Amino acid sequence: MAEFHILYAPGDGIGSEIVTQGRRVLDAIGERFGHTFTAEHAVIGAEAVEEHGIELTDEVIDRARAADAILLGACGIADGVPVKGRHPERAVLTLRQELQLWANLRPMKVIDHLIDASPVKPEVLRGVDMLVLRELTGGTYFGEPRGPYEVDGQPAARDTMVYSEPEVRRVVTRAFELAAGRHQSVTSVDKANVLESSALWRRVAEEVAAGFPDIKFESILVDAFSMRLVQTPRDFDVVVTGNLFGDILSDEMAVLAASLGVLPSASLGDGRAGLYEPIHGAANDIAGRDIANPIATILSAALMLRHSFELETEARTVEDAVDAVLARGIRTPDIQEDGSHRVGTAGMGDAIIAEITTH
Ligand code: IPM
Ligand code: MG
Repeated sequence: MAEFHILYAPGDGIGSEIVTQGRRVLDAIGERFGHTFTAEHAVIGAEAVEEHGIELTDEVIDRARAADAILLGACGIADGVPVKGRHPERAVLTLRQELQLWANLRPMKVIDHLIDASPVKPEVLRGVDMLVLRELTGGTYFGEPRGPYEVDGQPAARDTMVYSEPEVRRVVTRAFELAAGRHQSVTSVDKANVLESSALWRRVAEEVAAGFPDIKFESILVDAFSMRLVQTPRDFDVVVTGNLFGDILSDEMAVLAASLGVLPSASLGDGRAGLYEPIHGAANDIAGRDIANPIATILSAALMLRHSFELETEARTVEDAVDAVLARGIRTPDIQEDGSHRVGTAGMGDAIIAEITTH
């Protein structure tokens, strides 16, 4: 019996539909296992801009700090399009940085029942079980200087990829700790042949690796890795990389998993509190139609149970329920196949909750 305080922040687009299902699943787990999950709601993203003129208010940041965990949907109304001069996506970035959630875990285990829904060959996919650990509060996303300036009197814009040794050391160390509880292998991805920040990253990663002699270690260049990821994905266990490379590679990983709609993520810092969100975006084009896949959000809720609340059995119960529902051929449109049974966002939530409550 335990009590945990959750902040629900649906954001934009399909956010409210998928977070609603995530919350229902957590409530079903609470009921079955006798835990109390108290809930609060936060307005972030485009709706916050409309209401408060800013995508993330200080009040929400304070409430996020006070919560045991946050379940977030997604922010943004279209790729990089501003609302009243503000960028809704920045709500997510600011939250990650304000809460110092520097470790972003993006696990990807190929689900057998979805193997045929991926464009990659089944023999390449079978047995893939990897975890991308993306550095989340540094690198190109936050480096200074950034913004518009001038080159030869012409308008230009710049970003800065910067990593300090402590930033690299803590995330690579976390990668080794995670690998110790998994398949004993760490791959560090960089662009050390060209970028100074990557040369530093590689040197620090090698130093950290020396302290974990029992764990297999390899550094790979990001271009080569992006190829190996679709050729021989079974080679990888924990993959640690910087913020920008991790963003790009995790979408490629979603192709292996059959859909962006099934991949969860956990963002953690030094403590147990965390931010949990699907790796996909707000998908405004399909919002409000009850067709978005809630599985990525529901699996993010499972990660919350595991990493923030240390409720491993409960986390597995959610993951097993998702697996069982997919095994029965129940599918949202993004993962539909011949002969599968099509459901909507809420229908998928219903099916998963039925598994949780009846088994
Ligand atoms: C992700 C997303 C975000 C990111 C966007 C929405 C800001 O693509 O979590 O992968 O780039 O980090
Ligand atoms: Mg992304």
